[in-house]
Amino acid sequence: MSYQGIIEKYRKHLPVSAATPVVSLKEGNTPLIPVPRLARWAGAPGLRLFVKYEGLNPTGSFKDRGMTMAISKALEEKSRAVVCASTGNTSASAAAYASRAGLRCVVLIPAGAIALGKLSQAVMHGAEVYSVAGNFDDALEMVKKVSATGKLTLVNSINPYRIEGQKTGAFEIVDDLSDAPDFQFMPVGNAGNITAYWKGYKEYSDLKKASRRPKMMGYQAEGAAPIVRGEPVKSPQTIATAIRIGNPASWKQAEAARDESGGRIDSVTDDEILSAYKALASQEGVFCEPASAASVAGLKKYAARDDAFARSAATVVCILTGHGLKDPDRAMAVMPAPKSVEPRADAILKELGL
Ligand code: F0G
Repeated sequence: MSYQGIIEKYRKHLPVSAATPVVSLKEGNTPLIPVPRLARWAGAPGLRLFVKYEGLNPTGSFKDRGMTMAISKALEEKSRAVVCASTGNTSASAAAYASRAGLRCVVLIPAGAIALGKLSQAVMHGAEVYSVAGNFDDALEMVKKVSATGKLTLVNSINPYRIEGQKTGAFEIVDDLSDAPDFQFMPVGNAGNITAYWKGYKEYSDLKKASRRPKMMGYQAEGAAPIVRGEPVKSPQTIATAIRIGNPASWKQAEAARDESGGRIDSVTDDEILSAYKALASQEGVFCEPASAASVAGLKKYAARDDAFARSAATVVCILTGHGLKDPDRAMAVMPAPKSVEPRADAILKELGL
């Protein structure tokens, strides 16, 4: 049978039963793309480097892996409505899967701080979208209170089914490579995804499907780096709006992933993020959103500081969490605008210097 999404593919590793109504858009099965030019760009040309292009999920981000689980379980548990706080991608995914399930979807977003592509998705899928004065952390606090009434099901990553679904990203990587990579680099925001990947790698190595576990390398934006600083950031700032989070819900779990794997959680500047964002698009043909590029920016930073790593042939995977089309405004802001030209062949050739 053709591919049916992550629940059918990994059913025996997930908390579902024959009674679970599966709500799927055939998420997952995303490509692991070799990127040798990017390895040279990062100053580590000998690496066996791949990007996991999660932007190719149905709503354009990794959230779909968790959302197929969270919405299917909400339906199984006879919920009528779901709610989330979001920097954009969670709301886009929740809105899409909820519409498919016939559930009401309520979304709280930080005012003025989410990329237009994501907002347009939530709106088109019929979510009830509220913009709140405050940041993501404030919105999440409110959503927790609203869902505590039992009238709405919370579908942020503190919902354990989200983590269960998202761990399948690790399964796919191991299935593709026939083992776990040596290192995995990824952005960290609310810290659900690093928690999920680590859970996936542990489960697969316990089942002997992988002979090792990767070092988990998480990257926050410098202006929104609570885990690196060791304290919540009251007013997080970064152009990578998806990870503009000052008090991650899965903080402890992210530290556990780091410590148990022998990895690290560090920060990268907005300039480093934008430079990786451009390199991915212009040298490898892979367009991701700025937050996703924090993984590759982190790789470059790490390679610059660890000579043995930079000269190694380690197998490394960077997770590209969301598609570049989510945030076209950022793309147009960092690249030159198209030039105008007379509609004549000779004028065009002259412009081209040909
Ligand atoms: N990359 C992208 C594109 C994201 O949208 C997010 C989180 C992350 C990375 C970080 O993942 O939170 O599991 O550590 N976005 C959430 C949202 C917060 O609301 O869409 P995390």
